[in-house]
Amino acid sequence: MGENRLRGGMVGVGMIFDETYRPFFEACVQRPLYDRHTGVVNVELAAIASRTGKRAEAYRGSAPDAMKGFASTTGADCVQGLLDQGVDFACVATPDDRHFDAAKTVLQAKRHLIVEKPSVLDLDQLDELAQLAKENNVLAKVVYHKLLDPDHKKLRTLVHDDVLQHVNNGYCTLLEPKSISGSQFAEWIKGRNPGTYVAVHYIKLIDYTFGGRLKTVTATGQRGLVGEAQGPTWDSVQMRMVYEYDDGREAAFDIHTSWVTPDNFPGYVEQEVQFRFDNGVWNGHSRKRGVECTVEGKTPFELKQSMNNHYNGQFVEPWGERSQRGYGIEVIERFAREVAHVEYGGPESERAARLAEMQSLAYNDLSADRQVVAAVQALEAILAHAAHGRPDAVVRVNTPDGGLVLYHPGQSEPEVLYHPEV
Ligand SMILES: NC(=O)c1ccc[n+]([C@@H]2O[C@H](COP(=O)([O-])OP(=O)(O)OC[C@H]3O[C@@H](n4cnc5c(N)ncnc54)[C@H](O)[C@@H]3O)[C@@H](O)[C@H]2O)c1
Repeated sequence: MGENRLRGGMVGVGMIFDETYRPFFEACVQRPLYDRHTGVVNVELAAIASRTGKRAEAYRGSAPDAMKGFASTTGADCVQGLLDQGVDFACVATPDDRHFDAAKTVLQAKRHLIVEKPSVLDLDQLDELAQLAKENNVLAKVVYHKLLDPDHKKLRTLVHDDVLQHVNNGYCTLLEPKSISGSQFAEWIKGRNPGTYVAVHYIKLIDYTFGGRLKTVTATGQRGLVGEAQGPTWDSVQMRMVYEYDDGREAAFDIHTSWVTPDNFPGYVEQEVQFRFDNGVWNGHSRKRGVECTVEGKTPFELKQSMNNHYNGQFVEPWGERSQRGYGIEVIERFAREVAHVEYGGPESERAARLAEMQSLAYNDLSADRQVVAAVQALEAILAHAAHGRPDAVVRVNTPDGGLVLYHPGQSEPEVLYHPEV
């Protein structure tokens, strides 16, 4: 069996590129993917598309020699330019309200897609992308790396094996430092909220781990630090989702998010969950997995006191090699393996079966992201109304009025956000 090749393209070259995609592509240069069905698969970063190309050129300067040859495409047609480089798959990591156009262009060109979370902001967009992937016989996947966090895998395993029985309720919180809203995302943050950006990790965790049918979404939040107190940009957001299960019982989940936590907070992001079951309680805390480290003059700014070494850490391995690894990178590698399986995992005559097999993976396929996108669309609509002086709306799912329906207190006429069943 000869060596195979997958050419990857990167759309958007910001923080998440640096944390996960860059180390993935760099690791592939050292060690190609291998599986006994696909043989050796060399994965290359063939092209980067971004608005100005500045960060792509900065990366070229620091990239390993073997990777410096990537093409950089810029401007309004940068995604098409990237596809013209003959990439087999494209990774979309632009700001969350700019995923759709790039993702659509990738799928229309019959290339495999992986898009950052949240995949898209409404169900019409999701339907369109899922349909394009189906018609064009390619994968369309979304990155939810928290599903690969070993703690969340254990939670899911205990639920799957019926050791933890029937979730009743729970809370999740994820707090980002002020530097995220104040500098990292300052360019595109107007009108955005931390709920869509990070609560979506927990929406997916809840949706995927516990199953059930999403019934109701409510949300509120605070303003005045990132933007005007009466404006459309949110500092922190609290949302609640109610799910119903096959036995008719319900569970409620509260998700609190913020991007205005002080920068000298000891952990980079604060992540905590608690889920209560008929027969148990699961408590998870990403900062309290065991490490606390203080270094004079470095912590908590340059180095974090409680670091998440599971997500994405740089290490000197016991055998001397330097590495960067963790579930944030593993999730990208897993996608590349899924593409490799489709393209090289057996004879061409069986490609359709391999494609169907990979498309059936509900943890990352866009077609299985419906309830998550419904929750995001509901959250966006509730916050938009609140910013226009109409707070306290409730969104209900699959009602006689439509699939996703927003109700205002004291107003009899509902607003249908999405007509078909969710
Ligand atoms: N998985 C995670 O935990 C995680 C963490 C951070 C960010 N993200 C997601 O990754 C995405 C990007 O976040 P980030 O932190 O890297 O943001 P960033 O602001 O650091 O980078 C955004 C990049 O997109 C480029 N860009 C913007 N508009 C573009 C367009 N129209 N066409 C092409 N390129 C464009 C910018 O030039 C920049 O390179 C978001 O969807 C975010 O939700 C995920």
